[in-house]
Amino acid sequence: MKTTVLAVACVAIFFTHAQALSPYGFETSELHKRRLWNSVDVNDLHKYNLDAFPPAWSGYLTQPMDHFDPLVNKNFTQLYWIVDFYWKSNNHPVFLYLGGETQLTFDEVTHGHHAQMAKTHGALILGLEHRFYGYSFAQEGLLLPQLQYLSSQQQLADLSVFRGFAEKFLGMSGNNTWIVFGGGYAGALSAWYRLKYPHLVYGSVASSAPVRAQANFEEYNEVVANSFADPIVFGSAKCVASIRQAFGKIEQMRQAGKFDQLQNDFNTCQNLTKPNDFKTFANYLQSRFMGTAQYNRVEGNSSSIGDMCKIMMVPDPYQALVKMFKPSTCWDVSFDDFLEKLTNVYYHPYQVLRQWFYQTCTQFGYYQTCDNNTNCMFLPQVDVDYYLTWCAEAYNISAINVLEQVNFTNTYYGGDNPRGTRVLFVDGTIDPWYALSVLKDLPEDLKFIFINGTSHCEDMAPSNPNDTPALKAGRLAIEKVVSDWLIQAEMEKKHT
Ligand SMILES: *[C@@H]1O[C@H](CO)[C@@H](O)[C@H](O)[C@H]1NC(C)=O
Ligand SMILES: *[C@@H]1O[C@H](CO)[C@@H](O)[C@H](O)[C@H]1NC(C)=O
Ligand SMILES: *[C@@H]1O[C@H](CO)[C@@H](O)[C@H](O)[C@H]1NC(C)=O
Ligand SMILES: *[C@@H]1O[C@H](CO)[C@@H](O)[C@H](O)[C@H]1NC(C)=O
Ligand SMILES: *[C@@H]1O[C@H](CO)[C@@H](O)[C@H](O)[C@H]1NC(C)=O
Ligand SMILES: *[C@@H]1O[C@H](CO)[C@@H](O)[C@H](O)[C@H]1NC(C)=O
Ligand SMILES: *[C@@H]1O[C@H](CO)[C@@H](O)[C@H](O)[C@H]1NC(C)=O
Ligand SMILES: *[C@@H]1O[C@H](CO)[C@@H](O)[C@H](O)[C@H]1NC(C)=O
Repeated sequence: MKTTVLAVACVAIFFTHAQALSPYGFETSELHKRRLWNSVDVNDLHKYNLDAFPPAWSGYLTQPMDHFDPLVNKNFTQLYWIVDFYWKSNNHPVFLYLGGETQLTFDEVTHGHHAQMAKTHGALILGLEHRFYGYSFAQEGLLLPQLQYLSSQQQLADLSVFRGFAEKFLGMSGNNTWIVFGGGYAGALSAWYRLKYPHLVYGSVASSAPVRAQANFEEYNEVVANSFADPIVFGSAKCVASIRQAFGKIEQMRQAGKFDQLQNDFNTCQNLTKPNDFKTFANYLQSRFMGTAQYNRVEGNSSSIGDMCKIMMVPDPYQALVKMFKPSTCWDVSFDDFLEKLTNVYYHPYQVLRQWFYQTCTQFGYYQTCDNNTNCMFLPQVDVDYYLTWCAEAYNISAINVLEQVNFTNTYYGGDNPRGTRVLFVDGTIDPWYALSVLKDLPEDLKFIFINGTSHCEDMAPSNPNDTPALKAGRLAIEKVVSDWLIQAEMEKKHT
């Protein structure tokens, strides 16, 4: 039985909730990372004018655990990638690709729209993994005394140190124009790096970047409903009505106390009478639909949303839902078992759950609720209190603390109304995360591109002849902005 817990990463992360834990947390086999551009076959890369395996090397940089307290005498090592295959000279630009809340892989750093642009501009590509993810971890594990050093501020400081290291290590002229790229949470970091460290980076492309922190992220499931209704991805009003009908039946059964029947239909191990078990069940159900919208791809005459709609648009949508989920062995929807995963402090390079939700409790919220007063298609039991319980139980962080920290994050970075220059925000109309991004041009050269019909980070994939006209136009617009920055930077150098 697969269940999804949605992060904001550009890769889909799926967790299984039915197996025993290994001493290292999730087994490799339990987590499947779908490639960002999952419809691209590695053997087809020549079609995209990209090299299948450009030479790239990785290494580890020793970083202080705490950049802001010199008395903390602890270090960790952080994984970086170097791709100098396209780099024309040590004067040429540097494209810095940011890791987010997962491992940063060779594939991601070397293949993508940023790599195509690096080829065009003779740029060096550098990648830096995010602290506490992948191979950039604290040996001691994920207890609170370690996790306290996990924050976006510490990561931005890591990036600043990395710049000095890379300049020396690669013998740069010191004259290079740096541009930063990222998607999802790493997209927000990309924007914040430019806003907070403007002397270190000339421009930023921030794709699907949720720069506004918000505890109750109820807009997420509103966009999901709109996306399932959007004909551009083969959705329809009828599809939305069918999904509503299926979840509506569950709500009716809950209200009528028919827990026996629910347990029997979905083969849950628990009887769903405990409110938090029911909420966990509801959250797993909604996550399947949320992930479909977040990672939707249109291919020919179909899309993931279109495929899901075909399944749901039947005379008995409830039975379609049952069929989609019902496992052969009983399905563990116990809240306590979920919490056990969230509290697992053993470190594994593929594990992200404990770290990411720590970040949500201490900085961002981003809780994908299904409140009654919205057009959410799922079950209203998934409310913000449910998620705040995770913060309290797994990290001993109180609800008021979460709300205060979310407010601080917006005060600190400027939310969706930041001030600064040369940040390009790119979003897609199908991506539920767009609701927390910057959705208009702001003064002083903060620009926004909204791509019709694309989902989470879709513009970051390498371009493909079959891409929709809107996506092609969106990528061209990004290329134009990046070229203009590079030209402008050259002109500024000549005048100083
Ligand atoms: C941390 O790294 C710095 C710089 O490499 C080094 O001087 C220091 O001794 C290290 N501290 C520990 C505790 O390893
Ligand atoms: C800096 O860049 C400019 C323009 O590309 C170039 O003319 C100049 O020689 C470079 N300076 C150094 C120190 O490399
Ligand atoms: C549901 O399960 C709990 C134990 O997990 C039990 O105490 C309770 O009686 C059960 N309720 C029903 C209606 O079966
Ligand atoms: C896609 O739709 C067009 C127009 O309806 C049709 O001609 C074509 O055969 C379809 N292609 C596939 C792969 O279904
Ligand atoms: C949502 O609205 C329904 C009907 O008005 C109500 O019964 C239910 O308690 C509400 N649920 C939540 C979680 O507020
Ligand atoms: C939880 O936090 C409270 C208040 O900050 C503190 O007093 C308590 O010791 C903490 N409990 C645990 C188990 O860490
Ligand atoms: C957070 O900010 C909002 C809007 O400014 C305010 O209404 C709310 O009271 C703040 N919450 C906390 C816990 O500080
Ligand atoms: C997206 O494209 C569809 C179909 O071409 C069009 O009807 C719709 O108005 C467009 N939406 C936006 C936001 O541009």
